[in-house]
Amino acid sequence: MSNEVDLSQDNAAHLQNTLFQTVKDLHRGESVVIRTSCDPEQAVKTANLHLRDNLTWSTQTLGEGSWRITVKHRFDVEPKDIVDVLTRDHKRLDDLFARALHNVNQGDVAAAKPLLLEFAEGLRRHIDVEDHLLTGSFNAPRDPFGGDPTSTMLREHQEILGNTALIETYFEDDELPAVSDVSPFFAIMSGTLAKHEFREETNLFPNWYSALQKAPPEAAAALLQKVQAILAGETTAAG
Ligand SMILES: [Fe+2]
Ligand SMILES: [Fe+2]
Repeated sequence: MSNEVDLSQDNAAHLQNTLFQTVKDLHRGESVVIRTSCDPEQAVKTANLHLRDNLTWSTQTLGEGSWRITVKHRFDVEPKDIVDVLTRDHKRLDDLFARALHNVNQGDVAAAKPLLLEFAEGLRRHIDVEDHLLTGSFNAPRDPFGGDPTSTMLREHQEILGNTALIETYFEDDELPAVSDVSPFFAIMSGTLAKHEFREETNLFPNWYSALQKAPPEAAAALLQKVQAILAGETTAAG
C-alpha cells in the first residue's frame, strides 16, 4: 500500500510533528510518500529515533524548495548484514515478549501462552547464533575477569535462558498457571532482556560490525546465510 501526503504547508519546526504523525503507524508492506517544502531529513531521523529505528527512507529533491520522501517499514528491505539481522530479531523477540506480558497483565494467561512459547523458541535460536556461531567467528578479545562484552553476553545468556525455562515450566501442563504465579517472572524477564539487548547493541555489535567490514565479502555473505538459517529453525550452529 502506498499513498501520498502533502505536508508542503509545514515549516521545519512543524514538520517534526506532522511527519511523525504520518509515519508512526506504518506497518510492514506499507509505504508513504510525503511532499515537503523544506528538507525532511532531520524530521524523518527524529521520527525514526522515536520509532526505535523502524523506518527506512529515500529522499528526492524536486527543485527549489520542494522535496519528496518515501518512507517504508524497515523490515520491508532485505537486511544489510548480520548486525542488522540480529537487531531486527531483538525487536521481533521484544515484541513477542511484550505481547505475552501485556496479556498476563490483563489476566489472560491463555493468550500469553503461545506468544511465550514462540518467544522461547526464537530466543534459543538467537542465543545459539550469538554463543555458538558468532562468538567463535569473531573471536573478540577477552579479559580474565570476565568484564569484556563477550563474557558479559555469555553470562547474561545463561541467566536469560534459565529464566525463560523457569517461566516455561509453568505452561507445561494443560492447566494454566495463575496470573500471580507467573507475573513476577515476566516483569523481571522484561527488564533483564531489554538491558541485555541494549548492552549487546552498544558494546558488542559495533565490534562485530567492524570485523565484518574487514572480512572477505563471500565469507560475510556465507555467515549471514548461516545466521538466517539458524534463526529460521532450518539448522543449528552445530549442524
Ligand atoms: Fe544476546
Ligand atoms: Fe542478541
